[in-house]
Amino acid sequence: MQKILIEGGRSLKGQVRIGGAKNSAVALLPAAILADSDVVIEGLPNISDVYTLGTLLEEIGGTVEWEGQTAHIDPSEMVSMPLPNGLVKKLRASYYFMGAMLGKFNKAVIGLPGGCHLGPRPIDQHIKGFEALGAKVTNEHGAVYLRADELKGARIYLDVVSVGATINIMLAAVKAKGQTVIENAAKEPEIIDVATLLTSMGANIKGAGTDVIRIEGVEKLKGCRHTIIPDRIEAGTYIIAAAAAGEDVIIDNVIPQHLESLLAKLREMGVSIEVGDEQLRIKPPEQMKSVDVKTLVYPGFPTDLQQPFTTLLTQASNTGVIIDTIYAARLKHIDELRRMNAIIKVEGGSVIVSGPVQLEGARVSASDLRAGAALVIAGLMADGITEVTGLEHIDRGYEKLIEKMSALGAKIWREDMTDQEISQLQNS
Ligand code: EPU
Repeated sequence: MQKILIEGGRSLKGQVRIGGAKNSAVALLPAAILADSDVVIEGLPNISDVYTLGTLLEEIGGTVEWEGQTAHIDPSEMVSMPLPNGLVKKLRASYYFMGAMLGKFNKAVIGLPGGCHLGPRPIDQHIKGFEALGAKVTNEHGAVYLRADELKGARIYLDVVSVGATINIMLAAVKAKGQTVIENAAKEPEIIDVATLLTSMGANIKGAGTDVIRIEGVEKLKGCRHTIIPDRIEAGTYIIAAAAAGEDVIIDNVIPQHLESLLAKLREMGVSIEVGDEQLRIKPPEQMKSVDVKTLVYPGFPTDLQQPFTTLLTQASNTGVIIDTIYAARLKHIDELRRMNAIIKVEGGSVIVSGPVQLEGARVSASDLRAGAALVIAGLMADGITEVTGLEHIDRGYEKLIEKMSALGAKIWREDMTDQEISQLQNS
């Protein structure tokens, strides 16, 4: 087990290149199941979630060959079989095997997914969609069984705007007989990316990126080559780090339109942002002003940047209020930031951050992926050394974090934890 150490107080300067989008990658890989021949996906991020999904594809008979960050997936020998629970529980997105295997084989058995603990994360809307398409879904001994004689297109209204349910229903519907209409669909860029891959495979999908998606089922899907979009959340994390601890940072390989809600808030805070075609240049002001933020579905402010943004607000003058309307319980970073001297109150569903404060290095633990990012950014600004544990979460979603931050001038490294530290962590 390892921990990250950060010696704070160095200004970030230079250029960082953003990798492929985690939340696209985790759907694109299972989507390859639906094809009859080789699917090549370029630009996948170098994170553990991607390799876990690659292993799951191999578990069901696929061949996955890696050439750098390009995966060559041969789905021709895949079969529907129960997936190993240990791997399924490692990440939330293993639920995309439900839609993809149901769509290809008319059956799937899969344990309930794991992933970050952000409060309740039901999958009722996914199940509602599968059932509308004609699947029988049962929960037996902790696993979900999905079976259908034949999938038939249907009109499905999502009661909650859900990224996962929208993608999962698309996966199940692309080979169903007739037309499927998903109403109140999520509009995240990752949904467009998955629809683009499926369309290259021969699917007929219209409206991805709007709240009504229409799918005409096709009989066969073929292999194709696809390049993933850049990770807007990884980009947002470096943008926030640059605003918090930077001098002059260029964020490369981004789609600026995907980040508009974040950029708007940063401009309100006084941060200078130059927008290029695929680059952003971030320069913080002498003193940032506080803002209020409410997370919303895309194109609103992303819940995945709420925790890093909380860290940023500790450096702004006056009081900023954050409300996460997507995951109200995504708050486990707050006690850790308080250990570092942050002044944060939680009242009802509001996180109230007062600043500016000088953060102080401390031993803190990342309870989930984006909490990890929030704590690393705090460590960059803190006086003294910050130790961050819980790296298994950070490694699930941030590629080469140490290398990328170091290249920007941060003093950050990994160290093995001692046996005593491991037992203290396990007993805490
Ligand atoms: N919801 C339901 N029922 C459902 C599905 C969702 O009530 O059947 C609720 C959730 O509890 C939540 C809201 O709807 O309150 C939105 O959930 P959504 O389904 O959109 O989330 P998800 O698909 O499980 C993805 C990302 C998350 C990101 C959310 C919101 C992946 C693998 N995960 O999760 O990413 O926070 O969308 O944008 O795509 C992360 O990257 O750190 C992360 C957690």
